[in-house]
Amino acid sequence: MVSIAVVGANGNIGRCLVTEALARGHLVTAVVRDPDRYQGLAMDVLPGDVLEPEDVARVAAGQDALVSAVGGGRVVAEAARSLVAGLRELDDAAPRLLVVGGAGSLLVGPGVRVWDDLGLPAPLRRTMHAHGEALEYLETVADLAWTVLSPAELLEPGARTGRYRTGTDHLLVGPDGRSRITVADYAVALVDELENPRHLGERFTVGY
Ligand SMILES: NC(=O)c1ccc[n+]([C@@H]2O[C@H](COP(=O)([O-])OP(=O)(O)OC[C@H]3O[C@@H](n4cnc5c(N)ncnc54)[C@H](OP(=O)(O)O)[C@@H]3O)[C@@H](O)[C@H]2O)c1
Repeated sequence: MVSIAVVGANGNIGRCLVTEALARGHLVTAVVRDPDRYQGLAMDVLPGDVLEPEDVARVAAGQDALVSAVGGGRVVAEAARSLVAGLRELDDAAPRLLVVGGAGSLLVGPGVRVWDDLGLPAPLRRTMHAHGEALEYLETVADLAWTVLSPAELLEPGARTGRYRTGTDHLLVGPDGRSRITVADYAVALVDELENPRHLGERFTVGY
């Protein structure tokens, strides 16, 4: 059993991560901006803003892992810096950091990334680039045990199969030509990584 604080626990992906981690017997604390609005399972809930390094340090203290599932456009780029600043306040006691990333920076061909598709809506491309900025920043961080998990291009509702493939920097495309993963299986992959670290200090991706 490990102790995990999940920032963004009220979000679509955050709720699923909490459910998966609890089902496996881990000790989970939900971190949300407004505990009164928390709609997840009955569990420990702490207030915290990911953009405040002192909040990050407070909720991460004593945990084995801090998971960030925050979203909202640019927030992910700023969150990466704040998460690192907060964890650095804990020095050697800083827990492992797992960050929910984006698919935009994954390669679809030599030098071509998902976000190069000009047919994508502009707000989505901006969010993809914010995730890219977060990853680029984390890649400069050598003093913390961080991992980013980029989903397949489509992160959909659907069944938890427990089956998935992983890759590193290339978009995973299934036999049906689609790049997809359910949120439930994404959560399985992230908790698997948490239990058995294979991607310390790097990004990996998951899809069918
Ligand atoms: N294929 C892909 O690449 C793909 C697909 C889907 C999602 N994603 C990424 O996955 C992440 C999560 O997505 P989602 O669908 O779960 O988003 P969501 O449902 O909108 O949830 C985002 C959560 O972030 C929290 N949050 C925002 N700003 C915060 C702050 N300053 N401090 C603390 N918490 C904050 C919100 O908390 P409150 O409850 O306090 O508002 C909310 O619960 C996003 O970064 C998104 O870009 C990637």
